[in-house]
Amino acid sequence: MSNVIGQPLDRVDGRLKVTGGARYAAEIPITGVAYGVLIQSSIAKGRIGNIDTTIASRAPGVISIITHLNAPRLARPTQMPHGQSHPILQGPEIYYSGQSIGIVVADTLERAEHAATLVRVTYDEVKPNVIMEDHLSEAYKPPMGIVGGKSADSLRGDIDQGLGGATTRVEQTYITPIHHHNAMEPHATLAVWEGENLVAYNATQNVYGSRQALAEGLGVALENVRVINPFVGGGFGSKGMTWPHTIITAMAARELKRPVKLSLTREQMFFSNGHRPHTIQKVTLGASADGKLTAIRHETTSHTSTQDDFVEPSGVLTQMLYSCPNVQVTHRLVRLDVGTPTFTRAPGEASGSFAVESAMDELAYALKIDPVELRLRNYAEQDEQEKKPFSSKSLRECYQTGAEKFGWSQRTFEPRSMRDGRYLIGMGMATATYPANFRPASAKAIMFADGRALAQSATHDLGTGGFTVMTQIAADALTLPPDRVRFELGDTRFPEAPGAGGSASAASAGSAVQAACMALKTRLIQMSLSDKSSPLSGLNPQQVSVENGRMFAKDNPSRGETFAQLLTRRNEPRIEAQASAQPGKERGGGGGGSSQGQGSEQADKGGDKGYSMHSFGAHFVEVRVDPDLGIIRVSRALGVYGAGKILNAKTAHSQMIGGMTMGIGMALLEATHIDANFGRFSNSNLAEYLVPVNADIPNLDVHFIDEKDQFVNPIGVKGIGEIGIVGVAAAVANAVFHATGKRVRDLPVTLDKLL
Ligand code: MOS
Repeated sequence: MSNVIGQPLDRVDGRLKVTGGARYAAEIPITGVAYGVLIQSSIAKGRIGNIDTTIASRAPGVISIITHLNAPRLARPTQMPHGQSHPILQGPEIYYSGQSIGIVVADTLERAEHAATLVRVTYDEVKPNVIMEDHLSEAYKPPMGIVGGKSADSLRGDIDQGLGGATTRVEQTYITPIHHHNAMEPHATLAVWEGENLVAYNATQNVYGSRQALAEGLGVALENVRVINPFVGGGFGSKGMTWPHTIITAMAARELKRPVKLSLTREQMFFSNGHRPHTIQKVTLGASADGKLTAIRHETTSHTSTQDDFVEPSGVLTQMLYSCPNVQVTHRLVRLDVGTPTFTRAPGEASGSFAVESAMDELAYALKIDPVELRLRNYAEQDEQEKKPFSSKSLRECYQTGAEKFGWSQRTFEPRSMRDGRYLIGMGMATATYPANFRPASAKAIMFADGRALAQSATHDLGTGGFTVMTQIAADALTLPPDRVRFELGDTRFPEAPGAGGSASAASAGSAVQAACMALKTRLIQMSLSDKSSPLSGLNPQQVSVENGRMFAKDNPSRGETFAQLLTRRNEPRIEAQASAQPGKERGGGGGGSSQGQGSEQADKGGDKGYSMHSFGAHFVEVRVDPDLGIIRVSRALGVYGAGKILNAKTAHSQMIGGMTMGIGMALLEATHIDANFGRFSNSNLAEYLVPVNADIPNLDVHFIDEKDQFVNPIGVKGIGEIGIVGVAAAVANAVFHATGKRVRDLPVTLDKLL
């Protein structure tokens, strides 16, 4: 029976959120807490000469100042589950501007902040390399491949032959800037030691990953670390890894034998918690006169740090997006003196789709074929890279429904051909796709004697609806109304679930929650059947149905009892069951995926049999451009998606308009600038790093194709965390081209590029 899944249930945590009752990591009340403030490097490369803490340590309220001069030994991190692998407070070397070089701990936040300004640091400074364009000759092939161990380069067919047979070619370079996540909730850690045991309230998308990072970094056993994080104020990838401030805070709390809380400032969040790297992407398309692709080459260069090999996998979607016999994808890295980049809002797909979907629009214009029609002519009926059928694919319906709802047929093909008064009107579109990741997860379900149920899994709710959809899944599996089911997450005391990355949480933890609840229901039925005092005594399970928390004989519904009656009669305060879910052979190659979360993003796409599993969608955008001033406004946008089962129509809608909003930000506003001389991100604040506000965003329209996928995972969910941003920047840039005749190939599309 399924009647709660899919419903537009209000957020179960909504009341807590709007009343301030939802406590985030930095808000947990702990008595005796001390406040930490980071000292960060003002140079990007070189060595610390001296750190003078004399004056600072005499400032009022200061408890301790810890730098590399007096820090205890900390293990060198690994890039994952840490975000970066340079040593933390173990020496004078500086690897990037904003690197944490110490912590000031005081009895109040204000006193800690004041004392931190009194710390005097001298440096032996070396000029940093921070401009990727200056170092392209040093680009290297990432030795470990792209994340998850997939090869950085791939080739099918013969590119030269494909290009040789083409009548039309597009060869262009597309550029995306550095992006910062800018979640509302700052990164924060509150570390509380009880003897040898650490409890860390940590703003993270991955409690188990944080636990591992803390245990590794501090040299303690995993079982001595508990990480708790019930609410996340957005992450967008930046909280997937565990960054140095978390280790530093826990170290300080251990040294001081006192709870320490540390919250990053908005500016600090730009430096040492990752960013989307700058990409330069060369795309070469070849096509025959009838618009069939004969070759696709996608060469991505992105930057990484001097210590780690983080790859923005922009070319991955290119391998499977269209039908084409000859496809080549390469990824190269350039080392810069910056912090290690990280997963950001559909890493790879968001940046890569800007390049490929812009190039497809250019090809449509070169061939004089409608952009939607061009995509239909190159529709991939199967995953030609993996040579597997898709588990389900509704992209054709997405194009058709989208074109219809958007009024695409009203569009005239020629650039600058549509006007509204003095405004130039443009319509653009692009394809969206994101892998349907599914990783091993576990959950527990508990029935109480009062007829209420509780489910638990160490998954996360980034603000997108995890609490609510898990409650719905549990309610349906237990046949209970959702107000009698509670769901808890974000605690390493709960059964393990993957980090909230790669749009995998609903599919993974959701499948585990369903499995645990089904196991609990089975257990309760068996308990009733084998109980001599039960009205169901003597029946076998096939003769029993369950509705509304009541078990009854199928042939005589009056014969039965509720879960609560069973537990009450037997004097059992609670009965529980635990279960796991993991990818099966449908995915081929044994599934893959590790509980460390984001690292497995590519691994679970692999395999040599089974199905290729992806969400698909189409974005349609209308822009109005002021022909004199170049001001671009998005006036309408529509996203149509085939993303498997939609667990909650309301939260899913919100999640998609959130993704589309980020896409519009990426298209028109967002870029982090770096100072070439000092290696600092120079617009490290929300006044100068522009994100969309209400005035930038029109009514966004969202439509889901009703799609049933029986292979993807037990609950049929493909995941919608990231697909909402994919392709939006290209759709906007394509609309701007249609409006103005001006093709902008470097994001963001700002008015100066139109004039
Ligand atoms: Mo997402 S960038 O995998 O948090």
